[in-house]
Amino acid sequence: MTPSKRESKIHISHHAGEGGPFARLAEDVRKGLTKTPRELPPKYFYDARGAELFEQICELPEYYPTRTERALLEQIADDVVTSFRPTTLVEFGSGSSRKTRILLDAMTRARHLDLYVPIDVSEDMLRQTAYALGEDYAGLRVHGVIGDFEKPVELLPGGGCRLIVFLGGTIGNLTADDATRFLRNVARLLSPGDRFLLGTDLVKDVGLLERAYNDAAGVTAAFNRNILSVINRNLSANFDPNRFEHLAFYNREESRIEMHLVARESHQVSIDAIDLTVDFAKGESIRTEISCKYTRAMVEKMFAEAGLRLLRWDTDQDHLFALSLSDAVH
Ligand code: SAH
Ligand code: TRP
Repeated sequence: MTPSKRESKIHISHHAGEGGPFARLAEDVRKGLTKTPRELPPKYFYDARGAELFEQICELPEYYPTRTERALLEQIADDVVTSFRPTTLVEFGSGSSRKTRILLDAMTRARHLDLYVPIDVSEDMLRQTAYALGEDYAGLRVHGVIGDFEKPVELLPGGGCRLIVFLGGTIGNLTADDATRFLRNVARLLSPGDRFLLGTDLVKDVGLLERAYNDAAGVTAAFNRNILSVINRNLSANFDPNRFEHLAFYNREESRIEMHLVARESHQVSIDAIDLTVDFAKGESIRTEISCKYTRAMVEKMFAEAGLRLLRWDTDQDHLFALSLSDAVH
């Protein structure tokens, strides 16, 4: 295919009103590292190296969510697609869009596939994926949006129905308030006839949960520390990632995995671009991520608060992970 022909099917734009994924990094880092306890927003994990490490996490034997969600998608994709015949697929936090191909394939079989709108902060991954999909799906238009999915997006009016998806259990990385706000925006984007498919990780045996975030090969630890390299590079900081230990544990009261970076010794870090020095005591931690685990009742409650109506609920036989299909209450 000639480049010009390929170009015409693929559009990549920045989220309107945003100066790129790193525009607020300076403020976010200052705010997060000067409060108690310290924390960093997880969206900054995903530079090119972070996105690559996350792809490796998805293949780990301990990390059950990806393969479980993939199997569920394979089971229900045709059913879901033929039930309302969407022409457009919109995806938040699309990453490599690997599992998304199962839905794109089902839409191709139903002969309704027209447009794919992936939305992600990870620019290199988004571009690479958009062009690969353009090659692999004849006639598919791809409109990639680089930006924060927590900022409301406006979707261009399309010809047919839309399927909006949020996979990987990524909703669990938001606080309860942010998750509800996010779902309200989704409800607002859903026209009558459109549907929303959400992947959620479920409450389960603590050992199984904790192993998924403490893999033997140390990929998750490398991923966690990578956020410090992102700050070093973008804000002229001198974090030594080796002075921080990866810690991930299940917090039962909050029904979530928490991921932290814990200072191995007391030391000082300078972040030159924002004129900030941070003193870490030995054992002091930065919380880098939460990953909430749900029950069906919790998902239904979130949906009710956001104006979504659960249409179908699918889970694997071990109840590790669930897919929820919903529409908006208009
Ligand atoms: N959907 C894929 C990837 C999940 S990892 C899967 O199921 O395997 C989470 C993805 O969301 C990453 O690609 C990351 O870059 C993206 N992401 C995280 N926070 C984001 C935010 N605030 N806005 C947009 N994308 C975000
Ligand atoms: N959405 C994924 C989850 O909560 C993200 C994730 C998986 C993750 N493993 C991680 C984030 C390790 C940071 C570190 O499961």
